[in-house]
Amino acid sequence: MKDLNIGLIGYGFMGRAHSNAYRQVGAFFDLEFQPRLACVCGRNEKAVSAFARQWGYASHTADWREIVGRKDIDLIDICVPNHLHAEIAVAAARAGKMIVCEKPLARNVSEAKDMVAAVEAAAVPNLVSFNYRRVPAVTFAKRLIDEGKLGRIFHYRANFLQDWTISPDVPQGGAATWRLDVKAAGSGVTGDLLAHCIDTALWHNGPITRVNAMTETFIKERVHAETGEKQAVGIDDACTFFCRFANGSLGNFEATRYARGHKALYTFEINGEHASIRWNLHDLHRLEWFDHHDAGRERGWRSIHVTDHDGSQPYMDHWWVPGLQIGYAESFVHQAADFLAAAAKGEPCSPTFREALQTQKVCEAVLASARQGQWVDVPE
Ligand SMILES: NC(=O)c1ccc[n+]([C@@H]2O[C@H](COP(=O)([O-])OP(=O)(O)OC[C@H]3O[C@@H](n4cnc5c(N)ncnc54)[C@H](O)[C@@H]3O)[C@@H](O)[C@H]2O)c1
Repeated sequence: MKDLNIGLIGYGFMGRAHSNAYRQVGAFFDLEFQPRLACVCGRNEKAVSAFARQWGYASHTADWREIVGRKDIDLIDICVPNHLHAEIAVAAARAGKMIVCEKPLARNVSEAKDMVAAVEAAAVPNLVSFNYRRVPAVTFAKRLIDEGKLGRIFHYRANFLQDWTISPDVPQGGAATWRLDVKAAGSGVTGDLLAHCIDTALWHNGPITRVNAMTETFIKERVHAETGEKQAVGIDDACTFFCRFANGSLGNFEATRYARGHKALYTFEINGEHASIRWNLHDLHRLEWFDHHDAGRERGWRSIHVTDHDGSQPYMDHWWVPGLQIGYAESFVHQAADFLAAAAKGEPCSPTFREALQTQKVCEAVLASARQGQWVDVPE
């Protein structure tokens, strides 16, 4: 095993999820690389030093350029708000680092293209953290589709529902609410939530060619946490779009932060000629499956508990015993395992920056369509 020194930038929600993954991955997966928590970066010296102590990072800094410039750091992990992704990723690529970047890849296609160019010019291993691909039931769905079990696909529908910004008193900008500030986030639910749904959909069902969208900003002005002043809100609070896939199927997508009662409900359903698949994040270890080949009198929706160890259900043979499930955090462990295994072999690991650029293009087309009130083609 070779030590692989991790430099983590940002120690909030995702910083914790990724740190947990690096700590767990070597214990559950046999890898050539053993991640070592070498340095963590955050702007607040006191808070970042407390994080380093609690999570076992050997050092900390308040300046991301220092971490990128350190010769002993092998992998830069970008867990900061979206407006910082491009600058850090380009600098990290030039410094020859492996890069894991949180989603969405960037605020827009232009930044995303610069990032793709930088990692490809430097030929460094790169991955965008669309972690839901690595929930075993979601990976299993991909296996069933690739085996042709659904036959021709007619419909792909996905939702991502939340309810945390309904109050007009929620500010925009600043540490906890940068997602509401268009300068930091790039967009609202489109880049934040739909990007996940789009990434999974492209992976499951192939390219999206055209989109027709509507967005709404329900609360038009909010106090900015940094200035204390009321400012216009530039993000989309809700977005609904339908689309055409290159394989002839139709897509229906919705994301909102105004669905009272829903905290983080990601769902998708795929309807094919022979079978349908349904999944939801609140029951993430189960895949619902309807097979028209079943005898008529027994035909119905099955709920498959994706925990088998015989290798037919992904990832689970690395965990406990069949029947015992894992959760959200482990999707990041799988992501780290796949990325480190691919890097050791010199192979790409999906979704690469280039693959995530396509998700960014769909997001941009969705926002353009909502602005223009018409169909928009998604460029290849
Ligand atoms: N894969 C997922 O499911 C998922 C979930 C949540 C967030 N995300 C993505 O992860 C990224 C971070 O989101 P989060 O929820 O962890 O945010 P967060 O607000 O919890 O944490 C952001 C961190 O970035 C740090 N930071 C901000 N500006 C900085 C700077 N200039 N230099 C160094 N550090 C700085 C903050 O101190 C904080 O530690 C975003 O791109 C977001 O879209 C992905």
